[in-house]
Amino acid sequence: MVSRSRRAPRVSRCEPLPRRRVYETLGRVSAFSPPEVRELISEARIAARVSELAAQITREYAGRSLVLLSVLKGSFVFTADLARAITLPIRIEFLGVRSYGDDTKSSGVVQITQDLTRPVDGDHILLVEDIVDTGLTLSYLREQLRSRNPASVKVAALLHKPARVQREVEIDYLGFTIDDVFVVGYGLDYAERYRNLPFLGVLDASHPASR
Ligand code: IMP
Ligand code: MG
Repeated sequence: MVSRSRRAPRVSRCEPLPRRRVYETLGRVSAFSPPEVRELISEARIAARVSELAAQITREYAGRSLVLLSVLKGSFVFTADLARAITLPIRIEFLGVRSYGDDTKSSGVVQITQDLTRPVDGDHILLVEDIVDTGLTLSYLREQLRSRNPASVKVAALLHKPARVQREVEIDYLGFTIDDVFVVGYGLDYAERYRNLPFLGVLDASHPASR
């Protein structure tokens, strides 16, 4: 038996939240703000940009078989928001990739930790990445996907850090360009922490709370 306090609220009919309530809800979520993280891009700004990208993707992929290929773990939040804003019948696949240790510098080694569940030959693949930093992960993945015979491969990345590029990669749908800072939140982590922050922030790794 589920205890009363752990029971989820019952939804019996579809009822849009009044606009005021939506803001109150967002405000409460954003109140989770650790002192070692300085906000860089707000939740509202991310949402607005994701809608713009989704509208562009919807226009450009109309009538085609689109597969969003989410690169885990960092892009799980971006993928979830982007997918729900695209108004086309899409498929979603996940690819587990590890390119960092518990550090803020790229190891340069890309390891596939989880593969696709279905073939993608003949499909239009949109690789969904949280951030393109050195470009090593993305160029490796593009190369790997070639052997699976997709109809096309394009890239949607929430963030780009051009200062640290080692391998030039084309980004077809880009959220924001940022400086050479280590960011966390909205899916991105530092040592597996901060992924659930609703905004993007710069981590002060020297702050005692970040250890
Ligand atoms: P790249 O191979 O150097 O382009 O790095 C790609 C991956 O490194 C991203 O998908 C992230 O998981 C991770 N990464 C790069 N920069 C950051 C950052 O500033 N914060 C968190 N993760 C990052
Ligand atoms: Mg990461």
